[in-house]
Amino acid sequence: MSMLLNKKDKNNDNNNKNNEKSSNTINNNLEGVNDPESGSLYSNLLLYQKEGDKKENLQQRQVNSSLYIARPTFGLIDFGLKQTLGTGTFGRVFLTKFKHTESYYAMKVLKKSEVVRLKQVEHINSEKLILSQVHHPFIVNLFCTFQDDRNLYMLLEYVIGGELFSHLRKAGRFTNDMTRFYTAEIVLAIEYLHSKDIIYRDLKPENLLLDSRGHIKITDFGFAKKIDDRTWTLCGTPEYLAPEIIKSNGHGKPVDWWALGILIFEMLAGYPPFFDDNPFGIYEKILAGKIQFPPHFDSNAKDLIKRLLTADRSKRLGNLRGGSEDVKKHKWFRGVDWQGLLDRRIQAPIIPPYQHPGDTGNFEKYPEPTDDDKSGGITGDPYRHMFTNF
Ligand SMILES: Nc1ncnc2c1ncn2[C@@H]1O[C@H](COP(=O)(O)OP(=O)(O)O)[C@@H](O)[C@H]1O
Ligand SMILES: [Mg+2]
Repeated sequence: MSMLLNKKDKNNDNNNKNNEKSSNTINNNLEGVNDPESGSLYSNLLLYQKEGDKKENLQQRQVNSSLYIARPTFGLIDFGLKQTLGTGTFGRVFLTKFKHTESYYAMKVLKKSEVVRLKQVEHINSEKLILSQVHHPFIVNLFCTFQDDRNLYMLLEYVIGGELFSHLRKAGRFTNDMTRFYTAEIVLAIEYLHSKDIIYRDLKPENLLLDSRGHIKITDFGFAKKIDDRTWTLCGTPEYLAPEIIKSNGHGKPVDWWALGILIFEMLAGYPPFFDDNPFGIYEKILAGKIQFPPHFDSNAKDLIKRLLTADRSKRLGNLRGGSEDVKKHKWFRGVDWQGLLDRRIQAPIIPPYQHPGDTGNFEKYPEPTDDDKSGGITGDPYRHMFTNF
């Protein structure tokens, strides 16, 4: 999530246009690497869970099919925090290794004092609650959460292929076929979330990761929300905000379809349709609604983008009577094997390279925090009552 801040300004020092090609040659069948089913990562953890709690977790898993361990009997001490994979507004995500089994995970660490200062308590609690209840091939798995005096921890599967953002910046822009592949997988994930009355609200290339075989994994549920109908909180990333969010008219599922339109445009063009140096300039452009399509755009893609970027949400594709089916039936997706995609049987356009299960080569390099920042802290915990569900 990035809270109305401008898009992360990430320089891409490794501007290798042939990245996709070279990556195809690397062995993609290493044992234990980000097992698509994530089941083995889950079992590795469950082995170290106390007997009674283990049974309870298995029962819970049968109920909601997620891979979530409700009351982990292990904690930070059982993990080693390694490199930073990404940073956000009040925390960072580290590569981490479970000491007992040597398996790799990603650990999202949030500093409680920052979460409180930035008034994100409700969002973080909701992130945890929603992620613990969803299970989908294109959504990152949350295995458990815990906390100490200083931080909140979310243990996620490690998605080794890096951000779609980095792949897009490296490539400049994606071809029509590549864009359709990623979009289709994302459509399936949005369809699933909406069917559970969850809006995602933060669709953008930084929150879309590629798994070991190049399939999409959506991460960052910091703005996701379970809704009845509409909600009024202003959040998201400027370039991706729907007009109704800017106008504070109350917003719901249609905001995700709007953001999908922005995303398709950005993948095909290499830049988003509405941009400016400052957020207010962006908002003005979104409200004016003029889209300049580069000449190379496929005409069906253009048609879909226009239908998604429809200011009047009662006329926006995805929010009409057919719901997500209308999107899937659009001409641009003609011939797409939706079931094949869902089963991850369709070959992905970029196969991320990696040499071993803990390889972080697909992520940008970040300055590492001090060991003190990584540890639990010693100052007492004035905020624990705000995170009783963690
Ligand atoms: N499960 C994961 N595996 C690998 N990298 C991840 C994972 N989750 C997040 N990241 C990296 O960390 C970054 C920040 O995580 P995110 O959840 O988006 O935090 P924020 O809410 O601060 O934006 C992501 O953009 C991504 O690069
Ligand atoms: Mg994010």
